[in-house]
Amino acid sequence: MKKKVVIVRGVFPEVVAALAERFEVEHNAADRPWVGEELAARLAGAAGAMTTVMDRLDAPLLERCPALRVVSNIAVGYNNVDVGACTRLGIRVTNTPGVLDDTTADLTWALLMAAARRIAEADAYVRRGDWKIAFGVQYFLGQDVHHATLGIVGMGRIGQAVARRARGFDMKVVYHNRTRLPEADERGLQATWVERDRLFAESDFVVVMAPYSAATHHLVGAAEIAKMKPTAILVNSARGGVVDDAALAFALAHGRIAGAGLDVFEGEPALDPRYATLPNVVLTPHIGSASRATRLTMCRLAMENLTAVLEGREPPNPVN
Ligand code: DGY
Repeated sequence: MKKKVVIVRGVFPEVVAALAERFEVEHNAADRPWVGEELAARLAGAAGAMTTVMDRLDAPLLERCPALRVVSNIAVGYNNVDVGACTRLGIRVTNTPGVLDDTTADLTWALLMAAARRIAEADAYVRRGDWKIAFGVQYFLGQDVHHATLGIVGMGRIGQAVARRARGFDMKVVYHNRTRLPEADERGLQATWVERDRLFAESDFVVVMAPYSAATHHLVGAAEIAKMKPTAILVNSARGGVVDDAALAFALAHGRIAGAGLDVFEGEPALDPRYATLPNVVLTPHIGSASRATRLTMCRLAMENLTAVLEGREPPNPVN
């Protein structure tokens, strides 16, 4: 008898078809989030679950899934899964690191550039038909990116990909990370480690690239934002909750900093209502890794991880 696998969110048909060759597959083709009781009911009897960062797999839910052997997250982050509970219950957790670094770094730069040069605001202005005078010397004045200082909080793989892109803009790159990179890597990236306070005070652009955990909850809050230059821009494409949204929305509304570019939020898909009314913030709906090629690669890797565990092999990307 084939083992049951549940693909909790809508994925590419080729991935569903490939899994169906080996397993009995239940797929959320409608891509309507399954939560709470519905998720528990769907997972009952399943040996494998393929999940996204939006699917909360906490201890009470996991305890109701006695057949579950693997949770394969289609993401590098796994803060949606109670890994401790999984370990206790004999459930492997896997993720998809490495394959989304460049795509997420690209989106981070898109947000940085859009916020710096007020692209979303200018686009809306043109679409509304407000562009009446051909050229305005003082139209949509923004911040220069070239030769500015970029501060990266969290210098993992994606942070480093963001840093590499800064070279083309002749930027000075500073970073803060719990562990300092080896000297050769710093030289290669032309990035200098600095204390956190200094990073906030000196950067023209602060990019947040730290994963979410209890230790990084509100890593950037009112105190850190208060240290930033009034002309500075904050970009978060890492995880909601690493930045205190209430503090940031307040700072943006009161012109404490010049702008922000945000792909992730606390309590997604809900967002602080102030963000939608503020012209100085560019908002995207958690699309950091959303190129077709990368999302397909992530799904394939998640499939490999899940298949390996269910066939008794070590998965390529174990979390526990
Ligand atoms: C990740 O991989 O953790 C992203 O946030 C989902 O694309």
